Amino acid sequence: MPHVVTQSCVGDGSCVYACPVNCIQPTPDDPAFEHAEMLHIDPAACVDCGACVTACPVDAIKPHRLLDAGERAFLAANAAYHRTPRSRPLLAPVRPRLRVREHERPLRVAIVGSGPAAIYAADELLTIPRAQVSVYERLPVPYGLVRAGVAPDHRRTRRIARQLDRVCADPRLRLRLGVEVGRDVTREQLLASHDAVVYAVGAAADRRLEIPGATLPGTASATEFVAWYNGHPDHAGRSFDLSHRRAVIVGNGNVALDVARILTVDPESLAGTAIAPAALAALRASRVEEVVVVGRRGPAASAFTLPELIGLSATPGVGLAVADDARAGLARGGDPKLELLRGLPPARDGARGITLRWGLTPARIEGAERVTGITFAPTSAAVAAAASDAATADAAATADAAADPAAGRALTTLDAGLVISAIGYRGLPIAGMPFDAASGTIPSADGRVLDAAGGAAIPGLYVAGWIKRGPTGFIGTNKSCSQDTVRALVDDFNAGLLRPAADPAPHRSA
Ligand SMILES: Cc1cc2nc3c(=O)[nH]c(=O)nc-3n(C[C@H](O)[C@H](O)[C@H](O)COP(=O)(O)OP(=O)(O)OC[C@H]3O[C@@H](n4cnc5c(N)ncnc54)[C@H](O)[C@@H]3O)c2cc1C
Ligand SMILES: NC(=O)c1ccc[n+]([C@@H]2O[C@H](COP(=O)([O-])OP(=O)(O)OC[C@H]3O[C@@H](n4cnc5c(N)ncnc54)[C@H](OP(=O)(O)O)[C@@H]3O)[C@@H](O)[C@H]2O)c1
Repeated sequence: MPHVVTQSCVGDGSCVYACPVNCIQPTPDDPAFEHAEMLHIDPAACVDCGACVTACPVDAIKPHRLLDAGERAFLAANAAYHRTPRSRPLLAPVRPRLRVREHERPLRVAIVGSGPAAIYAADELLTIPRAQVSVYERLPVPYGLVRAGVAPDHRRTRRIARQLDRVCADPRLRLRLGVEVGRDVTREQLLASHDAVVYAVGAAADRRLEIPGATLPGTASATEFVAWYNGHPDHAGRSFDLSHRRAVIVGNGNVALDVARILTVDPESLAGTAIAPAALAALRASRVEEVVVVGRRGPAASAFTLPELIGLSATPGVGLAVADDARAGLARGGDPKLELLRGLPPARDGARGITLRWGLTPARIEGAERVTGITFAPTSAAVAAAASDAATADAAATADAAADPAAGRALTTLDAGLVISAIGYRGLPIAGMPFDAASGTIPSADGRVLDAAGGAAIPGLYVAGWIKRGPTGFIGTNKSCSQDTVRALVDDFNAGLLRPAADPAPHRSA
């Protein structure tokens, strides 16, 4: 009876290391790992020992016989992955342990931020005997998007916080909450008392939808909406107009699905979760009945992942449907995501729930004083063909939308009282640090901060997580990212390149 990985998989690879027969793939050292939508257990090789169940921090792994009706699709999804022969050897090597050269003083590192990237970096550093880590977090609570991003009804995923708690309980780690680096403490102050500083500040802002009407009341970004329902202090005072029966979400990544589900699920199912009380009250009074999620490219290029689609389609009380005009585009071909989409019912006028649409590029938001709807142009072949290369696709999309009326192509207008853009997050500059405005990241190479994109490394400064790679990937994706950064940091320490500007007492306040 095989074990099966289900929806709450965060891809941190704990199960991979625990499995005695190496039947869970892709492994963190596989190039496919960074972009994998989840990990998969090979049902033919699984020996049913349960080691992975114990290792998984978010209870994502279940024995086959305990899957509930909504989870059965994961059995096929796990097996399908292993049907394709992999070119790499089955027995993947486990990462070598970090080794710090014998040194007269301990390695001291400051980490900025306390999201997954920061805590995974701390965890890796604390494998070094005598290492000391100070974590600086601007908010009064730790763990970044684990609290302020992950949806409140994703209870199993939120359990990752217990694993982060265990790392923070190490007496060699000091967690300093409510300290904003760049405002309350400078990078020079941190460098004076530490060998190195790792910036793991995430991507707190959103990519902007740059079309006419995008700032009208009734428009919002998913970044704001998510932060509001999760009680992020920066967005606690926000309100959203939920008085119209239809809301439209632009973009179809996992964040779009989270927002669509929160808007349509029975609010009573959110009571007792970590949702902000004000958001729960607003959702209880909401008159939103239909949420249309619009992707600019075709169904095969949908940015949401298979586990999230399976989870959404099995959410009680949430009707998930495919717009009629899209059904013909759902070609057969064995892709599990397209197969699942093909099995969804057609959208019906006036029905409650979530409708998925594709192939529409936003052209303008309608309304004089506030939003009354949104108009889309058909997406051009150039954009539809572009991979998720945001810059190329955006340039083509902007040209596309601007040229559309002249080209006389049929526009589609959807009435709506709320338009939410869920088109991705974006990093913000930190005072005193270089910033690459094009990618919204701190420029880096192998985790070492550069003075400009393609420039020279600045001694003692490192990056990890979304501010290093850009805003993509699961919680666990940041683990290997942070391990790579720590490896570079330790190499530099061993090479004698790191030294605090002033030699401090252990864990002196900055
Ligand atoms: C809405 C949403 C839902 C998601 N849901 C899931 C999910 O269900 N499962 C999953 O696997 N992945 C999920 N993800 C992805 C996952 O949350 C990210 O991969 C991960 O949080 C990125 O980690 P990070 O540490 O780079 O950034 P963050 O988690 O953003 O952490 C950055 C931290 O740095 C702090 N900070 C910023 N600036 C400063 C400063 N100057 N000084 C001190 N502190 C600072 C911030 O306050 C924050 O706490 C979700 C992402 C989003 C946006
Ligand atoms: N449960 C989970 O595991 C979970 C939950 C939430 C988030 N996450 C992860 O967090 C990361 C961020 O998620 P995300 O949803 O913010 O980003 P995302 O996955 O990058 O999706 C962004 C979406 O916006 C679209 N888009 C971008 N620019 C656009 C424009 N100008 N006009 C119209 N559409 C545009 C993209 O279309 P194109 O593809 O055409 O560019 C895509 O559909 C992802 O890696 C995600 O998997 C995970």
